[in-house]
Amino acid sequence: MLSSRPQATLLAAASPTMTSSLPTLDLLMRHRSIRRFTDAAVPDADVQAAVRAGQAASTSTGAQAYCVMAVTDPTVRAALVPLAGNQRMVERCGAFLVICGDTHRHRLACSDAGQPYEAGFEALLVAAIDASLFAQNIAVAFEAMGYGVCYVGGLRNQLEEVDALLGGLPQGVYPLFGMCIGVPAEDPLPRPRLPLASVLLRDRYPDDATMRNHLADYDRQYADYLATRGTEARGWTAGIVPMFAKLKRAGLAAYYKAKGARLD
Ligand SMILES: Cc1cc2nc3c(=O)[nH]c(=O)nc-3n(C[C@H](O)[C@H](O)[C@H](O)COP(=O)(O)O)c2cc1C
Repeated sequence: MLSSRPQATLLAAASPTMTSSLPTLDLLMRHRSIRRFTDAAVPDADVQAAVRAGQAASTSTGAQAYCVMAVTDPTVRAALVPLAGNQRMVERCGAFLVICGDTHRHRLACSDAGQPYEAGFEALLVAAIDASLFAQNIAVAFEAMGYGVCYVGGLRNQLEEVDALLGGLPQGVYPLFGMCIGVPAEDPLPRPRLPLASVLLRDRYPDDATMRNHLADYDRQYADYLATRGTEARGWTAGIVPMFAKLKRAGLAAYYKAKGARLD
């Protein structure tokens, strides 16, 4: 069950260099995205510790198909704001990371061995999966240190421009999303998740009537949650429809293909 974190507890845990003593499960259940940060910087030692934790994640056959770009130049950070849907937290957070699927090293290894690089869609999937596991370990590591984090998928709005701003990424490197990190300047309640029974399935997928019942329950809970945040109290499904009822970021496949990804 999700629980809220009292303000005092949050502040006690918000010392960036302090290792949290929260048990892991408790830490995971207390997650909520943080979008407002204090001016405190994130020391490079903490970034390194979190990225090492990211590297400890499981990885497809050891491929480690990821890299992370720490964007430290304030002018680049400022330029990323409009490219990421005008999300000001990109420049206002203590540290900003760009997480990429990375098949470049594999290409170098094949090339140096005199072999072609012939990997297809599977390699793109491996890169996206590995990079996501890597990123989530990084996020949890930062939270364990008392920081707040927020992923930034808005980074995929204009990937060609992001790529150029990052100095021109080599073939096989696919920026996937950003991550803001910093000392929290807000303490939102954790966002409720789908009912467990709609996610944890036993042996077969439930029929649509059962699933719709779960969604109706969740819509009510979700609207209550949004009301606590002072935003429009609507159900979860009402927010999902505009996300998936039309094609978004239509140029993505072309960009990733141009970077060497294959969709076959
Ligand atoms: C890959 C990814 C991209 C995201 N992109 C954004 C974003 O661009 N802007 C934002 O405010 N939140 C973004 N989020 C945060 C989600 O909105 C958030 O995780 C979700 O609503 C659940 O809320 P919680 O993290 O507070 O539990 C992103 C999350 C993920 C996993």
